[in-house]
Amino acid sequence: MIKNKHLDIIIKNASQIVTATSNIPKTGSALQNLGIIEGGAIGIADGMISCVGNTEEILKTFTVDTIMDASQKVVMPGFVDPHTHPIFVKTRENELEMRLQGKSYKEISQTGGGIRASIQDVRNASLEELVDLGVRRINKMLTMGTTTIEAKSGYGLTTESEIKMLNAIKMINEMSDMEIIPTFLGAHEYPEEYKDDHEKYIEILINEMLPEVKEQSLAEYCDIFCEEHVFTVSESRKILNAAKELGFKIRFHADELEPIGGAELAAEVNAVSADHLVAISDKGIQSLKEAGVIPILLPATTFSLGLSKYAPARKMIDAGLPIALSTDFNPGSCNCDSQQFVTSLACLQMKMLPAEAINAITINAAHSLERGKLIGSLEVGKQADVIILDIPTYQYLPYHLGSNTVESVIKKGKIIKS
Ligand code: NIG
Ligand code: FE
Repeated sequence: MIKNKHLDIIIKNASQIVTATSNIPKTGSALQNLGIIEGGAIGIADGMISCVGNTEEILKTFTVDTIMDASQKVVMPGFVDPHTHPIFVKTRENELEMRLQGKSYKEISQTGGGIRASIQDVRNASLEELVDLGVRRINKMLTMGTTTIEAKSGYGLTTESEIKMLNAIKMINEMSDMEIIPTFLGAHEYPEEYKDDHEKYIEILINEMLPEVKEQSLAEYCDIFCEEHVFTVSESRKILNAAKELGFKIRFHADELEPIGGAELAAEVNAVSADHLVAISDKGIQSLKEAGVIPILLPATTFSLGLSKYAPARKMIDAGLPIALSTDFNPGSCNCDSQQFVTSLACLQMKMLPAEAINAITINAAHSLERGKLIGSLEVGKQADVIILDIPTYQYLPYHLGSNTVESVIKKGKIIKS
């Protein structure tokens, strides 16, 4: 196991190391187990985790360049955020005010706001402008402990502008320490010019956009906003099957507002994840379970929309589903970039236990991006994505509200915040 006696970094004396190890997405009682090592240490070499265990033994066995002391602190895997929309130009805080005055998200989107309000400025923006705005947002997420994100296109809705968004994601992935997994979301909304000709837009999606994105290898996944007032179940089925034929894997905005059978369709098309699920039916829960689809819950969106009904997390856990959690960071429904805040909401509003929520932002989120073997836990042979939090116990993470307790961030063995 030990190839090299010299390490780049040792983090020692952690009050708790949250290892969160699991080869498969955690369900049931495993979801309550964080694999805690008290007073432990972790050794890093060549960007990978070389050892995890007892502080004295590790210090005795290895020589090292840099020692970080985590006394009174908690060490965790870097957070994984598996559902974000970070590439946009204008923010839409005016919609918060409209919601506070009683307008619903659907009403706002049908009267010129919503996703369509973000389209024109993304179409007009240069690639450099999108990169410049996006990299600042994404680097801020790194300082809050998130070391891997999934990022979607979906604010251009023409072939050219969707490709531009995906190129911005690719460039940011290259220039930032954040690891970014790209998703094509051309089916985020019908653009103004096709709002009365859905068939034509679907034809462009299937015959132009998807093949072009594939040709340029710009996205690993294809996603869709399946909702009665956006893409219906039958429209979604058509688009997703075409995407699958081209070799895309599927992610899915399902049953966010109405229970229209989104989860059932996610199961039918073998989606990797089904996201939102506030309005999921009992049948939908069963379908996800049978098809092995990972539910990603986004409680900050419900909170930001001012709604009182959250996704039924406990019911899903009881049904044996491996929940993951995400911010849904976007300019409209949820301008939240903090997995720490999401963890608080998951506990306080959906009654998840702190350990369940922490597994859901680490190992299960990694599995929801099909990277459970590489990231999301602290174990020998995995990528060294490690954070140190200035908190005494893991329960303190959801308990402490609204500020950043992440003190140090290490990505692929590189200290990017100390
Ligand atoms: O996940 N639901 C669709 N897309 C985003 C909203 C994006 C927006 O409002 O700009 C979401 O909530
Ligand atoms: Fe979303």
